Amino acid sequence: MSNANTQTFDTEQYPFINKGLEGIVAFSTNKSFIDGQKGELIYAGYNINDLAHNVSFEEVCYLLWHEKLPTQAELDELNKELVANRALPQPVLDYIESTNSEASPMSVLRTATSMLADFDDDAEVYTDEANMRKAIKMTAQMPAIIAAFHRKREGKEIMAPLSEGSTAYNFLYMLNGEKPGEQAEKTMDLCLVLHAEHGMNASTFTARAICSTMSDIYSAITGAIGSLKGPLHGGANTAVMNMLLELDKDADINEFVSGKLARKEKIMGFGHRVYKTMDPRAVHLRSMAKGLAKEVGMEYLYEWSETILKTMKDEKNIDPNVDFFSATVYYSMGIKPDLYTTIFAMSRVSGWTAHYFEQFANNRLVRPRALYVGEKNLPISQISDR
Ligand code: SDX
Repeated sequence: MSNANTQTFDTEQYPFINKGLEGIVAFSTNKSFIDGQKGELIYAGYNINDLAHNVSFEEVCYLLWHEKLPTQAELDELNKELVANRALPQPVLDYIESTNSEASPMSVLRTATSMLADFDDDAEVYTDEANMRKAIKMTAQMPAIIAAFHRKREGKEIMAPLSEGSTAYNFLYMLNGEKPGEQAEKTMDLCLVLHAEHGMNASTFTARAICSTMSDIYSAITGAIGSLKGPLHGGANTAVMNMLLELDKDADINEFVSGKLARKEKIMGFGHRVYKTMDPRAVHLRSMAKGLAKEVGMEYLYEWSETILKTMKDEKNIDPNVDFFSATVYYSMGIKPDLYTTIFAMSRVSGWTAHYFEQFANNRLVRPRALYVGEKNLPISQISDR
């Protein structure tokens, strides 16, 4: 071994550094299970393929928070609490009204969600009951933040939340200024079900790490929103739509994809740290995208998507993830691309808060190590000598 003061460690010597914590099991959880080889996703015991089309987003919230599907009475009670908590505190509305209309919707969601704590008497109360109340409030209010900012930046009147209807129904009403049809509500509700929970993804890890210091749930969700915003994570759905919109009608899609791959550019909406086959959520979104794009006369979006899918499979053996077809689904619903990640967030807040409860109940401070590869004990020189 050479002198420790001058030795610089070669990280190749230390294979135990799992960059990106790849393959590291950091927690146990009852919230979800993913089999990346089989393409299987379980939410608290129930397969996503059984949950899709059979339960509402609110039932999934209840399932993730309580680890059982609700009875009708329990669901009615949760719906009542969600509806009762939709209205935003006036200072938060004032912020939304006054902030920069060009700001990123995810940035506004992050800021406004953090602000909610200032007007919540429970903010620094850490009982299970208070934490549940805060989870319900954020699940109810995040859709209102997203819709209010969008209306404001479009120069339209901010809609007050409805005192009835599902989360999906109220969100589309507040976003578009008119009550949605049954199909639109069902589509949005299914998207919220599909995006609710997904094991130890980067934003959920962020939420648990913040919880592990015994910080509050608003801080945990604010951090998770920041993590989800990145294009390698939840930001990918917006990036997928921007990629599709940059194509013109007679583009050679194969050439487009091959060119990007040749330049070592990532094709957004493809690949996954865990799935090594088709993401089961993408299977449902693919079918939704096909029907919706046809319905609105934008079949080309779906056809291009299928060509990209085939090229990626043929050239890289990489499958689409949840973000690829969700872009076409939301675009076909007339939703602006830069809102897609906020829709991901308003669903995933259910999973994030469920993981906060789980961490809080059986906590250990999240504090990994880092291999120091710098110099040690260097002599200090006076600034005049540097
Ligand atoms: C989500 O974790 C979760 O569960 C997240 C999520 C959830 O529900 O919470 O599922 C939601 O975030 C889905 C992922 C959305 N992100 C994207 O679509 C961005 C594009 N995808 C990639 O950046 C990538 O696939 C990741 C980040 C998703 C996963 O990356 P990994 O596990 O770190 O894999 P990697 O980058 O090391 O890639 C391995 C190989 C590389 O090739 P080589 O250098 O070995 O030749 O696969 C290639 C990569 O270049 N590759 C891609 C690719 N993804 C991986 N090549 C082109 N396009 C891609 N999208």
